[in-house]
Amino acid sequence: MATAILPLVGAKATERRADPVSSQADESAVPGIDVSRPHPARTYNYALGGKDHFAVDRALMDKMLAVTPAIRTMARENRAFLGRAVRYLAGEAGVRQFLDIGTGLPSAGNVHEVAQAVAPTARVVYADNDPLVLAHARALLTSGPEGRTAYLHGDLRDPLAILNDPATRSLLDFTQPIALILVAVLHFIADEDKPGDIVATALDALPPGSYLLASHSTGEHDRAGGASAMRAYRDQGVTFQLRDSDEFARLAFAGLDLIPPGVVSVSEWRPNGTGPRPSLAEVSFYGGVARKP
Ligand SMILES: C[S@@+](CC[C@H](N)C(=O)[O-])C[C@H]1O[C@@H](n2cnc3c(N)ncnc32)[C@H](O)[C@@H]1O
Repeated sequence: MATAILPLVGAKATERRADPVSSQADESAVPGIDVSRPHPARTYNYALGGKDHFAVDRALMDKMLAVTPAIRTMARENRAFLGRAVRYLAGEAGVRQFLDIGTGLPSAGNVHEVAQAVAPTARVVYADNDPLVLAHARALLTSGPEGRTAYLHGDLRDPLAILNDPATRSLLDFTQPIALILVAVLHFIADEDKPGDIVATALDALPPGSYLLASHSTGEHDRAGGASAMRAYRDQGVTFQLRDSDEFARLAFAGLDLIPPGVVSVSEWRPNGTGPRPSLAEVSFYGGVARKP
């Protein structure tokens, strides 16, 4: 069995059908990784209890945790929401194709694992702009034999480059519904980069019956904690923009049919069981799923 990442078409894309290799990239050997500045994929990985982060990422997250200890809860609740929503899309909604932009570092419950557990033929295209995610992409490419996955290095601020990439076009059938996943990524898009236009451009390219699954960090229930997290990110040169639920709903879901329960705290989106859930302030993440009419 080959273990190298397979170039598909063009230099940016990788594709794998069924090759369960582990992700043990030598980070120091990967060009383009800036270890002097924190990066969202790595700080999030640290908050989730992962192992793929550098000192600078830990320093930033520790600073934020000192003010807002609930950040780990936020990351975990967001990730659990992603899993429940993908399960819904692959199951009840019958979606077989996914485009996950802002994938993050491979973690428990990657989108293809969740989707293919429900629908083994599910296809997933992943895209992220962090070179470290690219270095670990093999772990995102361990598709089951009936489905397929691809990874491409791309930036959400140029959605058409991702949508028109040969890897995307060869894996996804644009005559059939596609679920666009923008989970915990839109808050890294500044207002001046027009996140609403970015989402609209991406959704325009998808056929009717497609879905958007999105989540977004908010300061609505903890203004002081939110402001401090935003400052900490920005002091390190990372764009970070908290938004209230109405702003998020407007920029992400305008013109779409929201699936019940609508835009809610991620913990409240079709939770498993009836056990106690963290408070709105502890979660500080909104999420929703909507269908393109
Ligand atoms: C907090 S992680 C979320 C990972 C995953 N979606 C989840 O919710 O578990 C945010 C990811 O978005 C990526 N990201 C940030 N800005 C981006 C951009 N402009 N284009 C593509 N990816 C971006 C980061 O590199 C990081 O991997």
